[in-house]
Amino acid sequence: MDVMDAIRARFSVRSFKHYDIEDSKLERVMEAARLAPSARNLQEWRFVVVRNEETRETLSEAANGQRFLAEAPAVIVGCAITSEHVMSCGLHCFPIDVSIAMAYMTLAAVEEGLGTCWVGAFSEERVHDVLGIPREVIIVGLLPIGYPDAEAPPKKRLPLNEIMMLEEWRGE
Ligand SMILES: Cc1cc2nc3c(=O)[nH]c(=O)nc-3n(C[C@H](O)[C@H](O)[C@H](O)COP(=O)(O)O)c2cc1C
Repeated sequence: MDVMDAIRARFSVRSFKHYDIEDSKLERVMEAARLAPSARNLQEWRFVVVRNEETRETLSEAANGQRFLAEAPAVIVGCAITSEHVMSCGLHCFPIDVSIAMAYMTLAAVEEGLGTCWVGAFSEERVHDVLGIPREVIIVGLLPIGYPDAEAPPKKRLPLNEIMMLEEWRGE
């Protein structure tokens, strides 16, 4: 599968088949994150893979009761070990670095026949507690992963000419 095919095929999966995913598949998805770029190549990301059913139930509760977190056979919790680094543009590195790595995971998952859904609606405090994550570590996103039990809906996106400008900013 080429990258563009994976980008087109990816969609937010919120319904998963009730069987587990192979370790080898999970490892390839994690390898995609490992190879992702990060500011100054600091790689200040860490990922907790949760397969335990009870823990997934608790994660689902911590994510405003979004059930698909409990239904997916695994949830990958994307963390940053520090928020210390700021680029000269003024932006923090950590949410960008972790997001790039997790975006790579979502595409690698498609190639494995798996689906994911980025979950940003969660109580950071509760996820810290349930996984024993130290306070200084920041949780950026949760990524349930498994075999999709849903069909891709049509993509609703702005047209290219609305989001792309040539040479200089145009519009408001
Ligand atoms: C930062 C971020 C946070 C998101 N949080 C949630 C969430 O908490 N629950 C959810 O069901 N979807 C969540 N999504 C998924 C988006 O709703 C979804 O990506 C968007 O509607 C586009 O649909 P698609 O992913 O199927 O192309 C999130 C996506 C991003 C990028």
